[in-house]
Amino acid sequence: MTSVATTTLVIAAFLALISLVEPAAERLRLPYTVLLAVVGVAVGAVASFLLYTPLTSTFDAIVAPIVNLPFSASIFLVVFLPVLLFHAALTIDVREIVEDAAPILTLAIVAVFAAAAAIGFGLAAAGVPLTVALLLGSIVATTDPAAVVAILREVGAPLRLSRLLEGEALLNDAAAIVLFSVLVAMLSGGGEADIAAGAEHFVVEFFGGIVLGLVGGRIYGGLLPRLRGSRMAEVTLSLALPYVTYLVGDDVLHVSGVVAVASAALTAGVFARVRLAPDNWEYLEQVWEQIGFWASSLIFVTAMALVPRLLAGLQPEDGWLLLIAIVMALASRAAVLFGLLPLLSGLHLAQRVSGAYKLAITWGGLRGAVTLALALSVTENTQIDPAMKNLVAVLATGFVLFTLLVNGLTLRPVIHLLRLDRLSPLNQALRGKVLALSLAEVRDAVRETAQDYAIAPGAAAAVTTRYGEAIDALAREDTFETAISDDDRMTIGTVALANRERRIILDHHAQNTVSGAAIERLLRNTNRLLDAAKAEGRGGYAETAQALLAFSREFRIANFLHRVLRIGKPLQRQISVRFEILLVRRLVLGELARFAATRLRALFGAVVADALGETLATRAVAAARALDALRLQYPEHADSLEQRFLQQSGRRLLIARYHDLYEEGLIGREVFDDLEREHAAGRRHAAHHPPLDLGLRTEELIRGFGMFSGLGEVEVKALARRFRPRLLVPDEPIIRKGERGSAMYLISSGAVEVVLPNQRVRLGSGEFFGEMALLSGQPRQADVVALGYCRVLVLSVTEFRRFLREYPQAKEVIDSMAETRNRANAAGGAAVK
Ligand code: CMP
Repeated sequence: MTSVATTTLVIAAFLALISLVEPAAERLRLPYTVLLAVVGVAVGAVASFLLYTPLTSTFDAIVAPIVNLPFSASIFLVVFLPVLLFHAALTIDVREIVEDAAPILTLAIVAVFAAAAAIGFGLAAAGVPLTVALLLGSIVATTDPAAVVAILREVGAPLRLSRLLEGEALLNDAAAIVLFSVLVAMLSGGGEADIAAGAEHFVVEFFGGIVLGLVGGRIYGGLLPRLRGSRMAEVTLSLALPYVTYLVGDDVLHVSGVVAVASAALTAGVFARVRLAPDNWEYLEQVWEQIGFWASSLIFVTAMALVPRLLAGLQPEDGWLLLIAIVMALASRAAVLFGLLPLLSGLHLAQRVSGAYKLAITWGGLRGAVTLALALSVTENTQIDPAMKNLVAVLATGFVLFTLLVNGLTLRPVIHLLRLDRLSPLNQALRGKVLALSLAEVRDAVRETAQDYAIAPGAAAAVTTRYGEAIDALAREDTFETAISDDDRMTIGTVALANRERRIILDHHAQNTVSGAAIERLLRNTNRLLDAAKAEGRGGYAETAQALLAFSREFRIANFLHRVLRIGKPLQRQISVRFEILLVRRLVLGELARFAATRLRALFGAVVADALGETLATRAVAAARALDALRLQYPEHADSLEQRFLQQSGRRLLIARYHDLYEEGLIGREVFDDLEREHAAGRRHAAHHPPLDLGLRTEELIRGFGMFSGLGEVEVKALARRFRPRLLVPDEPIIRKGERGSAMYLISSGAVEVVLPNQRVRLGSGEFFGEMALLSGQPRQADVVALGYCRVLVLSVTEFRRFLREYPQAKEVIDSMAETRNRANAAGGAAVK
């Protein structure tokens, strides 16, 4: 057989093995990697035995490739590692972990250095050369969170905690691999550790990799719309991304390829989550889950199959070294979690994590495929001393085996011992309540089914009474009202409300009725609501809801760009997004009110439901007011958005209808595909904003003023050069009392309010303000604030002077108005228009 053929055969055999191990692990309730490791070692042992035993040579041809792998270990680093990390990073939603970015980064980097240093110096004290010891330290510094996260999810640990762990594991893989490559370079160079050069190398590789990944992920995001919604193309391009970034990083730019891959995946995920149709995103995730599974499983079996051969060179003192490494690793992880994490939460940079969870996380620090891939690659490095190579490989593999067999197998009992798998009294009571409610609903449904199918009343009663008994039993031990204080119930209710909001918004995303940018913002907002609800209950929720209506930072930047640099596009886009967000929010709030009145009332009682209903009503009023302010200025755009919304809903219904016809067998696949294709373009249409006309054309605005009604085309054009159009947003302060005057404003549409000592004067279309300070040279007389969205024409001081000289009639109007206002203000301020 050719070597390609043997390689393929070995891989195929391993794949077959993997497919059998996965369901077996499920059945035995063992962590999958643990069983895979055991089977891998067994296969390696049997193969070695058959190859070397003098008893038979019948199987030599079959087992030889397993013992002496026909492919080099670089296949793991180049082919499997990039996809492994890409998959791990793709599953992380950056937006969900931004608030924990500080602890994740610190934990990941500090933990890697702490582990590498602890293990390195520990082993060096036992006689291992320092650089080799550090190298081993870096290899086993990576953690594989899969097992512990799976169990934490199962026992209902806070989601934020598992996200923190996943984020940390990803970055510590990246940091450990960079450290590893720096150390390998040192060892291959034969030089001793030069800390400064090594540190610089690390920083360049790590941060260079992040930047490269950002660029790569961005390009991927930019190309997505060009793939016209083809899921095959989207996945294919995503498969190219890790390899391209990895190789460009490592071989061209000499920054860390693995870091680049991780950062590319995080970035690509941000774009793909909103730019892909939801089904396509799901498909992409599924394909990647499969690819990641293959990569990690193959690394596992292959490395494990080599274990018997590696362990053949095991010296008794290696056992001691392994023990030192394990103790040091546990100690350093515990030190970081118990020492650094509280420090970070003390600085409000991280959430608080209870001691029990910290212990569970320390114990759950299993090592996995990444450690094995690195260990394998060391065995093939020809520039490292063979004895050292062997030591590193033996210890690293031993380490992985230990964590899998000891920590992995005891993790569940440890979590039980720490009582983390027990529901809190609060959740316990909630569980009882949910169960009772659901059982009651099911009992009614069963009763109806019995009637529909004309089932004998006796048989039906036998079934329904059983439900009744269960419900009664639950009612007897119902501790919901007593175990949970009113405050707690209110908090749980508020959290449920925020969760529900998230779901509704995701539904809108799935139905493609709203643009990606609006969905993204809405989801971010609901995450804030959810966190506020969890941390501060109803009060925090209400406060955050109020804050969400304020103009976002992006909006304020866009407004600034428009005002100062006269760049209008961003503002146009922001207003359009705000429109959409308010539109969706109004719908969502309606649905939420119904949810509170029915489901929440049933679960939490009238008091909670009513209070939450009130909070929702306040939100609805505020949202409606914000929407009305926009609609007032841009009625056509509001109409067109609403129309688009309906159109998308209609399109979706139509496709659903086609689908039904196809399912019923009335039309064939070809017809269905053809009909669907016809409407596919419209689907994509929703991803973009319909253009919004801010209506800020200077000449049109000028013509709207009575003062200029007599002017001809040429004069209007000349005036247009003097005026600058500007959009004011609700509550925007335009003039502050006491400032020096810099411009006069003509209101083209909308209204502003002049805040005088005794009263407020409202000025509307056709009126002007800000003239007094310019005429008198005195400071501004009053604050002026925009009441809603207004279009104004701005005349700067210099243009103002020129304007008065050129247009004596206008000067007259302005002078006399200033005069009147002045007099009124001196007399104690009557409204003067
Ligand atoms: P200025 O003083 O430059 O800045 C504040 C502006 O408020 C002022 O110019 C006028 O344009 C406007 N203003 C001041 N007093 C009145 C008033 N009594 N009625 C209407 N507008 C006023």
